[in-house]
Amino acid sequence: MRVLLLGSGGREHALSWKMAQSSMLEELFIAPGNAGTKQHGKNVNINPTDFEGIKKFVLENNVNMVVVGPEEPLVKGIHDFFLADELLKKVAVIGPTKEAAQLEGSKDYAKQFMHRHNIPTAKYATFTKDTLEQGYKFLESMNPPFVLKADGLAAGKGVLILDNLKEAKAELKNMLADAKFGEASSRVVIEQFLKGLELSVFVITDGDSYKRLPEAKDYKRIGEGDTGLMTGGMGAVSPVPFADPVFMDKVQNQIIIPTIKGLRHDNIPYKGFIFFGLINVKNEPYVIEYNCRLGDPESEVIIPRLKSDLLDLFEGVASNTLSERDVQFVDKCATTVMMVAGGYPGEYKKGKQIYGLNTITDSIVFHAGTSSDGPAVLSAGGRVLAITSYGKNIQIALAKSYESAAKIEFEGANYRKDIGFDVV
Ligand code: GLY
Repeated sequence: MRVLLLGSGGREHALSWKMAQSSMLEELFIAPGNAGTKQHGKNVNINPTDFEGIKKFVLENNVNMVVVGPEEPLVKGIHDFFLADELLKKVAVIGPTKEAAQLEGSKDYAKQFMHRHNIPTAKYATFTKDTLEQGYKFLESMNPPFVLKADGLAAGKGVLILDNLKEAKAELKNMLADAKFGEASSRVVIEQFLKGLELSVFVITDGDSYKRLPEAKDYKRIGEGDTGLMTGGMGAVSPVPFADPVFMDKVQNQIIIPTIKGLRHDNIPYKGFIFFGLINVKNEPYVIEYNCRLGDPESEVIIPRLKSDLLDLFEGVASNTLSERDVQFVDKCATTVMMVAGGYPGEYKKGKQIYGLNTITDSIVFHAGTSSDGPAVLSAGGRVLAITSYGKNIQIALAKSYESAAKIEFEGANYRKDIGFDVV
């Protein structure tokens, strides 16, 4: 297979690492990739939302499969773009169409979908600028904390959790009337706050059948003990100890199966990953959000736990024969610790040289935000490296990730020292 992978983060490094192990791979290109993906294929300088640029590259290089890492090209309709083009429609796209990607691209769409198909989720209502007054009344009828979600994509920043009513009303106004998140907050979902431990569950589907992938838990806040500002994710563990067979049966029967059936019932073809952001409330699973792609840094622990050939699964998705494929996991835990730039998630500097990468023997270093300068590797983002390790339990894997992280240096490097604190 000649594959083009879109994206440039740790998720894409993990995907390229895994695809490069497949005997089905003829050539792998990554657009735009990073200094890590370059070890497994050829980076090409195309933006994942430059559909015309992607088309030109796909045709010139006889690419027959495009794997979409991040949500933005999906929500903007890259799959539809391929389907609508005579020259591209035979190229397999791993990732849902624009309509299906609304499960992530619009919180209100996702809530309506869950409501229609009886999928457990927090109670909610959606408001616009014209219904701001009703929004205030709805907030008054609720107990704190108040959860406000911008309807559209807002680079991971669109969810606010506020403790007091006055602040919640002011933020609702900011979002709806003053376009705090631009067009993304022209509609706002207000929902009931759910208290519990979160986890991320993933499936891959061809639209008819699905295969479950390992689940993971990520750590979204910058500070230890889950404090401070939200980030893209500071580390992850897999499996998740509280996701025992009884709980996962509930996830399967109350959430995964109704979602796949619901998509079919609504005539929404779906080819790709579904990421269920869940919360465990007194041993009952609820959906916090859907994403139409894999998670990051969850990918850096779930892909290493996948024993099966990923390209074989992708081929099953493309040819609607996923039910015939086999999914096996390695019988080990995996953890990842994200090394980030000083100042992240606020302002931070890029271009810091990274030392010690070739001293690491006990972990896999996935690059999240790096670039190359000759033989040197430089930081190129807020999240820089994900240090993934295996172990027969989470503690052993974490100890290895921390030992490896201590051997890597770049100016300002920071990482959380307590990944997994709430589950081990
Ligand atoms: N780690 C959460 C996400 O990828 O959205």
